[in-house]
Amino acid sequence: MKLKKTTKRLIIRPLDKNDYKAWLDANTKSLPPQNPWDIKKKEKNKLTKKEFLKIIKFHKKNLKEDEAYHFALFLKKNGSYIGIMSLMSVTRNIFQNAFLGYFIFNNHWRQGYAKEAGMAILKIAFNELNLHRVEAAINPKNKPSIALANSLGLTKKYLSRKHLYTDKKWNDFMIYAATSEEFGIKWKAVKKA
Ligand SMILES: CC(C)(COP(=O)(O)OP(=O)(O)OC[C@H]1O[C@@H](n2cnc3c(N)ncnc32)[C@H](O)[C@@H]1OP(=O)(O)O)[C@@H](O)C(=O)NCCC(=O)NCCS
Repeated sequence: MKLKKTTKRLIIRPLDKNDYKAWLDANTKSLPPQNPWDIKKKEKNKLTKKEFLKIIKFHKKNLKEDEAYHFALFLKKNGSYIGIMSLMSVTRNIFQNAFLGYFIFNNHWRQGYAKEAGMAILKIAFNELNLHRVEAAINPKNKPSIALANSLGLTKKYLSRKHLYTDKKWNDFMIYAATSEEFGIKWKAVKKA
């Protein structure tokens, strides 16, 4: 299973324990949240190596259990860590489905990095992880995320009422999705599934 990919400007791979400095730099250099969906700046006590290693451990556990796959995004030109994209809530059996989640640190927005990474990760989803469908659940007001989903070829499906518990309440989310066929990749049943 190949979980590392290089694109024109990015190196896409799981986070590694040696990435602490790049991770710390990215968290330190980003600006305060720019919109309601932007990630909150971590407090100093959440930026220690110990906290970072907890994240790595969680990602590794997810991967081992075929539960979620997290891809860190690094700039080829200088090694900066710029964000993460994840294939989460992997459901096998007759579903072969996952939810795509993402954030780019706000000092790197609007440069096409999310699109470049997303296209590569959808190919990993369909070619390497043998998924059939990738969905994104998006707050209907989150215009940048909707623009990204459209740009990646995920199409609007339906409004899922009270879909996720965020900000201490159940919120409605619009579901966007694409299947492997829509990416020209024929899904094949494998014994493991
Ligand atoms: C959503 C997000 C990942 C986009 O990252 P990005 O690197 O700025 O996106 P890109 O530069 O690759 O742009 C992708 C497409 O979205 C469009 N887009 C991005 N931000 C936009 C904005 N603020 N308004 C309108 N369109 C926007 C781009 O024009 C591009 O469209 P195109 O391919 O048709 O030219 C980023 O805004 C982010 O991290 N937001 C906070 C976290 C978040 O909302 N996550 C999603 C939760 S569902």
